[in-house]
Amino acid sequence: MKCRTLVLLSGRGSNLEALLTRIRCWQIPATIVGVISNRPDAGGLAIARGAGITSACIDHRQHADRSGFEATLATTIDALAPDLILLAGFMRVLTPAFVERYSPRLLNIHPSLLPAYRGLDTHARALAAGDREHGASVHVVVPELDAGPVIAQVIVPIRSDDDAPRLAARVQRGEHLLYPLVVQWYASGRLSLDSVQVSLDRQSLPENGCRFRLVMDPESVAGDRLEEA
Ligand code: GAR
Repeated sequence: MKCRTLVLLSGRGSNLEALLTRIRCWQIPATIVGVISNRPDAGGLAIARGAGITSACIDHRQHADRSGFEATLATTIDALAPDLILLAGFMRVLTPAFVERYSPRLLNIHPSLLPAYRGLDTHARALAAGDREHGASVHVVVPELDAGPVIAQVIVPIRSDDDAPRLAARVQRGEHLLYPLVVQWYASGRLSLDSVQVSLDRQSLPENGCRFRLVMDPESVAGDRLEEA
């Protein structure tokens, strides 16, 4: 049985694209059953349509309040009966009631080495702090923003000539390996999720989850890989 995976996004959809590619190339026992965006102009919706995946736009601006928006979102999600829900650049804060409804099968990818830099503008903040390393984390979503147990992290170096867009692009190359890897673990039954603690192969994971370094292929992103940190 393939793991029915649903992707929620608001933007470009590069993580969705990477998930689609790597589910196929790595033969992950998962299938993307739907893509939902809160923004009609999200590039991720076009990627979903191009791949023949069911997609829906639930525009938060068309709803009077957060609970109305989330009620429509929940109805759409439940109709797709997902086993796993991935936030991939979904830029709406979800209420505790919504999070608890889907916990712990609701994951997020966040562009920082959590617990550092929760919230927005993570790349600029890491640069302003003079950090030497930055990265991304996949974590279980809990009501507190960007605070759930971390499953895995990818570390990328910060270079002296970096600006926020350049650093963000490098972090995304890491994200594009990390999220599919976590889906592979979950879909093959290796990952046990909980809102307090996660385990891989029955071993509780440390606070930062499994840590990897991004090894970039100078020729092509297809040759990028993760190395245990
Ligand atoms: C990703 O880099 C993800 O880490 C970030 O949004 C981007 C979406 O890119 N998420 C957050 O900032 C959540 N707090 P994509 O649409 O190209 O996948």
